[in-house]
Amino acid sequence: MDRMYRRQRHIYDASRKFYLLGRDAMIADLRPPAGGSVLEIACGTGRNLVRLARTYPDIRCFGLDVSTEMLETAGRAVTRAGLRGRIRLAQGDATAFDPEALFGRNAFDRIVISYALSMIPPWRAALGEAAHRLAPGGALHVVDFGDQHGLPDAARRVLNRWLGAFHVTPRGDLPAILADMGRHPPWHATVRQKFGGYAVHGVIARDARTI
Ligand SMILES: C[S@@+](CC[C@H](N)C(=O)[O-])C[C@H]1O[C@@H](n2cnc3c(N)ncnc32)[C@H](O)[C@@H]1O
Repeated sequence: MDRMYRRQRHIYDASRKFYLLGRDAMIADLRPPAGGSVLEIACGTGRNLVRLARTYPDIRCFGLDVSTEMLETAGRAVTRAGLRGRIRLAQGDATAFDPEALFGRNAFDRIVISYALSMIPPWRAALGEAAHRLAPGGALHVVDFGDQHGLPDAARRVLNRWLGAFHVTPRGDLPAILADMGRHPPWHATVRQKFGGYAVHGVIARDARTI
């Protein structure tokens, strides 16, 4: 990851805003409780964390990423935004991390995974790990590439080849897996796809009233 992002991180936010769709809608939908905690797993440049902290001025934010290069950029973004007191960053692997060791807490009111499962080979493990870090009443929000059901074959082929150059593999079964999680207690799920399955936004919660 570090090798890939060493240079890309400098143009990351400007270039990705055109195709990492649905991130701001997810942030608007998050609605953490007053004074609550929000963890972004695989936070990248910190773009979402800064928006989260600005959108919800009384929450505390936490971000982890496996790439020290991305974390360096995120640290600068947080400092520039004057949010060092409210956003903490740490290096960690989405598939196995100890939030107590990283942040001094075991659970979070909201957890966000944005366009990262498509880069993590054992993405199902990352999903399970995140769900188990939810505080009572918490919700996990996932936004990523969807199942592409409405895209013409040619567009799908071009898109996936292009994403592959960035080590991104859309998980075609992600919407179905999220929906299936919601059929197994204690989980509830809502799954919405946009733009013919280009993007998916799934919410997993223990309490149906949270989603
Ligand atoms: C496409 S970027 C998305 C960044 C951010 N979430 C956003 O929406 O802008 C994917 C991020 O996942 C991180 N990543 C990849 N594999 C990871 C892993 N196993 N654990 C934690 N982070 C990982 C990368 O370093 C990168 O910062």
